[in-house]
Amino acid sequence: MKNTFRQYYIVTLLLLTFPFFGTLTAQNTSANTSNTIEKKIDSILSLLTLEEKVAMCHAQSKFSTKGVERLGIPELWMSDGPHGVRAEISWDSWDYAGWTNDSITAFPALTCLAASFNPDLSAKFGKSIGEEALYREKDVLLGPGVNIYRTPLNGRNFEYLGEDPFLASKMVVPYIKGVQKNNVAACVKHFALNNQEHWRSTINVEASDRALHEIYLPAFKAAVQDAGVWAVMGAYNKFRGQYTTHHELLTKTILKGDWAYDGVVISDWSSTHDTMEAALNGLDLEMGTGTDGLGTTTANHYDYYYLASPFLKALKNGDINASVVDDKVKRILRLMLRTTLKSNRGFGNINTKAHHNVARRVAQEGIVLLKNENNFFPIEDKEGLTIAVIGENATRSMTAGGGSSELKPQFEISPLEGMKQRYKNAKIIHAMGYHTGPSVYDNIIPSTLNQDSLRLQAIETAKKADIVLYVGGLNKSHLQDCEGDDRQSYELPYNQEAFISELKAVNPNLGMLLVTGNAVATPWLPKVDGLIQTWYLGSMAGHAIADVVSGDVNPSGKLPFSFAKKLEDNGAHFYGESSYPGDGTDQHYKEDILVGYRWFDTKKITPRYAFGYGLSYTNFSLSDITTRSNKLKRDGSITVSCKVTNNGSIDGAEVVQVYVGKKKSKVKRALKELKGFNKVHVTSGASKTVSIDIPVSTLAFYNEDTSDWEIEKGDYIIYVGNASNNISKQIKISVK
Ligand code: BGC
Repeated sequence: MKNTFRQYYIVTLLLLTFPFFGTLTAQNTSANTSNTIEKKIDSILSLLTLEEKVAMCHAQSKFSTKGVERLGIPELWMSDGPHGVRAEISWDSWDYAGWTNDSITAFPALTCLAASFNPDLSAKFGKSIGEEALYREKDVLLGPGVNIYRTPLNGRNFEYLGEDPFLASKMVVPYIKGVQKNNVAACVKHFALNNQEHWRSTINVEASDRALHEIYLPAFKAAVQDAGVWAVMGAYNKFRGQYTTHHELLTKTILKGDWAYDGVVISDWSSTHDTMEAALNGLDLEMGTGTDGLGTTTANHYDYYYLASPFLKALKNGDINASVVDDKVKRILRLMLRTTLKSNRGFGNINTKAHHNVARRVAQEGIVLLKNENNFFPIEDKEGLTIAVIGENATRSMTAGGGSSELKPQFEISPLEGMKQRYKNAKIIHAMGYHTGPSVYDNIIPSTLNQDSLRLQAIETAKKADIVLYVGGLNKSHLQDCEGDDRQSYELPYNQEAFISELKAVNPNLGMLLVTGNAVATPWLPKVDGLIQTWYLGSMAGHAIADVVSGDVNPSGKLPFSFAKKLEDNGAHFYGESSYPGDGTDQHYKEDILVGYRWFDTKKITPRYAFGYGLSYTNFSLSDITTRSNKLKRDGSITVSCKVTNNGSIDGAEVVQVYVGKKKSKVKRALKELKGFNKVHVTSGASKTVSIDIPVSTLAFYNEDTSDWEIEKGDYIIYVGNASNNISKQIKISVK
């Protein structure tokens, strides 16, 4: 295992060995710096043997790769990602290593970050998690994930940034920059089209070029071109018959060719399948492969990786040109010079008050108020009031489980605990209602409890209270919000619908906190007066929830995906099994570019809650909406201005959203697409004017005939509102 002393020793060695190394100073212009780095890379490369080069292209343990000891080239250490730095895993198995100094801050899940619609917060999130990764001596943080939310059944949606490529792009860039400020690489994943977990290792996705370029790739492209991400992780699935981790079109042509990506392509753990393809189509670093291709381990199995002995053999017998391995090693060295070999790298820090504050703020701003009949929320803390907090999710750890994003936080405030700490005058009572089996870090071990008595106890508790707050939803167990497979139904699990009815029958004052990373069916909605989407919020979950429930914080989150009334209303499900989940071999993305609200809008299907929707405890109005065109040509832009007025009696924040559509077009178009947004804080009674710039270039569609982006001339409609289904004004503009 690497330690600080070892790192110091390595850097010293490199300083002595390579004359260029010492010339790296902060004053260098970036061009000079990159020139210096490239020269240094070449000079290191010239000293390596073929065996040493190949050894750098694959794992030596579950999460590390070999260095070259004789030259002081260090190992490379990686960790999941993306909501906190994962606990240490054993050298050669998936077991936790059992360290006592690897507890971290758990930040909210990325769906929550997306719901904040606040790129500045994303920068803070990235910087903080990067500091924790640095402290934990990680060189690569395996995240963030930007796979598009295509179906609410995807077990991994909670790890991603929602259904809209523009929102995901705007939110991912500051996250990556924040992480990399610490000289820790972000590794954006999973490239690409890994939009479901079911059959993820085998399914072949068929999607059009337009869907690929307009929906599924933009966030990756932004990560590469706008954030300068240093690592990209391949995906498990196939696309057009070829595995995406070493894909001729995706990794070789688009990522490394068109986008001129200069970083490292890392496989997902066990997503590599072929030596020639891996070598020639752009995979640089192979991780997690089992000797039998299924993820199991035997002695010396790292030597049998596709990019290990078979790669060496092909290089030696001339089947693969030496320039292929040189390019991979150069990229790996470049990554090292940006991270582990970077001088004055710093030490990072962990579990600081500042990190906890960032986690709490992201949670506060991402929580979405979905329903608030008769001002059910906020709930005042007053003497004589009894609030029953009911449901397993009130106490269940939501950082445990879920797959590779599982965390071991130093602490995790549960919703119940948060409520108890916040409410000093009102009385908080609690009952679990049902149990679904213990989760690793829970302090309540419910397996000894009987479901019927839990239910009865909860009903009795609800009867005694003035207000019932039911904390339900999904959890991080297999077949819920969890990696490895998808949810099997759109309904709430564990008989919750019936349970909600039972609670309502004994206490009409019922509100609900929905703990999920996905939309769910809501036939029970009329039974709850208030509904708050609380996501998975990490260490500060309970505090952030109590902040919003009590009104200390006015909710300002907006849904980053459409919340359908029924499963078949989603574009991915409309065409049946061949579209989702496929026939076991192939699946066809038949909804094409009409993903998420693009589908609902265009097909005139009313969702339960629309993309971009979220209530506040105050009332906002949008007025004086105008557009100013600055040369409506290819290189021009449109500036949208809008006055936001807070008409209520408390301060709050609103997200102005700008969508653009084109009614007459030579190609299929969504009714409208998000092209700009701005979250603005406005004090009670005040107004603020926001301006949002829309570059004309962003109105382009991907022309499949010319394989290029094209801006159509003619009229476009600009839609300005505070939700995709709540547009205050439409303005026609004309592009010449
Ligand atoms: C996941 C990746 C993760 C890797 C390492 C894989 O199963 O798909 O997202 O980074 O494991 O834990």
